[in-house]
Amino acid sequence: MGKRGFVGCLFSMIYGFFVLSFGTTSKAQMVPAVYVFGDSLVDVGNNNYLTLSIVKANHRHYGIDFPTHKPTGRFSNGKNAADFIAEKLGLATSPPFFFLTSKANKNNASFMDGVSFASAGAGIFDGSDERYRQSIPLTKQVEYYTIVHEKMTGEVGAAVLQKHLSKSIFVVVIGSNDLFGYFESSDLRKKRTPQEYVDSMAFSLKVQLQRLYDHGARKFGIAGVGALGCCPEFRLKNKTECVAEVNYWSVKYNEGLQWMLKEWQSENGGIIYSYFHTFTAIHDLIQTPLSYGFSEVKAACCGLGELNARAPCLPLSNLCPNRQDHIFFDQFHPTEAASRIFVNRLFDGTSSYAFPINMRQLVAA
Ligand SMILES: *[C@@H]1O[C@H](CO)[C@@H](O)[C@H](O)[C@H]1NC(C)=O
Ligand SMILES: *[C@@H]1O[C@H](CO)[C@@H](O)[C@H](O)[C@H]1NC(C)=O
Repeated sequence: MGKRGFVGCLFSMIYGFFVLSFGTTSKAQMVPAVYVFGDSLVDVGNNNYLTLSIVKANHRHYGIDFPTHKPTGRFSNGKNAADFIAEKLGLATSPPFFFLTSKANKNNASFMDGVSFASAGAGIFDGSDERYRQSIPLTKQVEYYTIVHEKMTGEVGAAVLQKHLSKSIFVVVIGSNDLFGYFESSDLRKKRTPQEYVDSMAFSLKVQLQRLYDHGARKFGIAGVGALGCCPEFRLKNKTECVAEVNYWSVKYNEGLQWMLKEWQSENGGIIYSYFHTFTAIHDLIQTPLSYGFSEVKAACCGLGELNARAPCLPLSNLCPNRQDHIFFDQFHPTEAASRIFVNRLFDGTSSYAFPINMRQLVAA
């Protein structure tokens, strides 16, 4: 027996002991798998496979606090929300779709154990902003999922697959890039009023959620957008204060999204969801940072110039030493510390954070 075999054997003896002694308290098996859709808030490396994309976090100082201390494609100093959601469920983080379909997948990891389709820069719309055209928009992510669905059907059969999927969690974190695109494009602003724009975001998202439902998804964790006007990039436009208009439309979009979810649920049997009030969660941190262990709510940790927000987090950018007490790591993205708090709220928060049920209730449902 090799060293590995011995350690593995010892582990299963210890594990067996605990299971026998304490019953099935193990966190594994809470859900069979997590399927993740969305943008840079949950991308765990898909964009690294997009040769043309410039929206990548594959360089320092990203990943400096990740267990490997290396950049991974996550727009964070360490882990992001997708990692913490998996951790809470006792699962490994769902790997990037492009990793699973690449030669690097030597262990033949299965789609049945979860897949992440998330791509930094992605929006509900296909490329509302030129900078993001090279990302995988939501429609494409869902298309990849339908291919995965077909492959899994071939592997285990329709009935087994449906049982598996109906217990799995479908995480959807999207919308911020569509709003950024709108507020940074005078063209779009001329074409559509903000109300029309946020209405069509919610409507387009519904179409994609329906496609997921039609391919077996039943349990959803869906995040609203945060207080986008308070991210360092926007604070530069208002003497370091939040931009009121952007926050106003973030809230309006979130209201439309919640209304849409309710309607969508009433139109289809068996949908259960937990909607996460990202706006409220981040607003809390900004209002009372000290009670959460933060002292810097405005500046990015990594970047250049005023608020470290005049330039992106690049290899030659400044990096703050005190990443634990910053809410933002770069111009747009939360630190690992902030993401951890959000996921704690998602799992155990009251209905003012996770509505109508939190993730823990969703899992048990
Ligand atoms: C990979 O997994 C598939 C499906 O589970 C299986 O059919 C195939 O033989 C596996 N290949 C290797 C190299 O293990
Ligand atoms: C700038 O910030 C102040 C203070 O929060 C706020 O009252 C004002 O509406 C903001 N201005 C804009 C243009 O967002």
